[in-house]
Amino acid sequence: MAYEMILVETPAPGVGLVRLNRPSALNALNSQITREVFDALEAFDRDPAIKCCILTGSDKAFAAGADIKEMENTDAVTMLSGGDFTDWSRLSRLRKPLIAAVSGWALGGGCEMVMMCDMIVASETAKFGQPEITIGIMPGAGGTQRLTRAVGKALAMEVMLANRHLTAQEALHYGLANKVAPVESYQAEALALAQKIAAMPAVAAQLIKDSINRAYELSLSESLNYEKRNFYLLFGTEDKAEGMKAFVEKRKPEWKDR
Ligand code: CAA
Repeated sequence: MAYEMILVETPAPGVGLVRLNRPSALNALNSQITREVFDALEAFDRDPAIKCCILTGSDKAFAAGADIKEMENTDAVTMLSGGDFTDWSRLSRLRKPLIAAVSGWALGGGCEMVMMCDMIVASETAKFGQPEITIGIMPGAGGTQRLTRAVGKALAMEVMLANRHLTAQEALHYGLANKVAPVESYQAEALALAQKIAAMPAVAAQLIKDSINRAYELSLSESLNYEKRNFYLLFGTEDKAEGMKAFVEKRKPEWKDR
């Protein structure tokens, strides 16, 4: 498929990469670029050769938020009847692990988009923020919920009410990010992490992701039950048979991803 605002690559076997590529607007997320991101990631999700994905931007900006120029002349009823931003849930429905490689600005919808990914590898220059209040609105793609779960109520309030930015080190401290690396190497770090995951059995990886995400949706007893069902399900896979046989035979397993 031809894309205009993103670049799509396969930087290593099993790894799909989508790069936001709208440098003139610091990768501001208008409806076209978000549609292209969701389409490209869904195509990787359907591709059996791809086992882990990376979503990234430029060293200067992951994304400086939803496109303010696109939203300037819209109104509440138009937003409501068009269901604006509801399609962002397409990111949460991806089955394969998704790593955000983040450098520079990750503001507003940019911060919300990285928080919808499964893991974050940040450069030392990454700045996370929800500045919507400075333009008279509030986060609308999960910021008030996901950032609060990640950093706690008091700091989330400061970020969203006083436009406080979180540094990469703070993101790491609060468990929002997995790793911080120099700007010269954060992309390589994200790729190394993706390759590690791509070398694992795919069905187990998908069910682990699915089970972890339930921790944010269900009560503990419901999510423990959900986990147990996914656990049982893996006993029906060829990779379970191969993984355990290889362990007993003291050799490396050969995954079928089935
Ligand atoms: N929407 C549209 N265009 C944007 C943009 C955005 N969110 N952010 C940056 N741009 C554009 C600028 O208008 C500018 O374009 P022109 O050269 O044509 O004027 C270009 O990108 C470069 O930006 P700056 O000149 O402002 O760059 P800077 O280095 O001086 O400042 C910045 C960088 C602090 C990130 C600043 O651009 C900024 O504050 N951007 C807006 C951040 C923001 O408010 N984001 C929240 C958006 S609302 C939202 O996301 C809602 C939601 O929850 C879904």
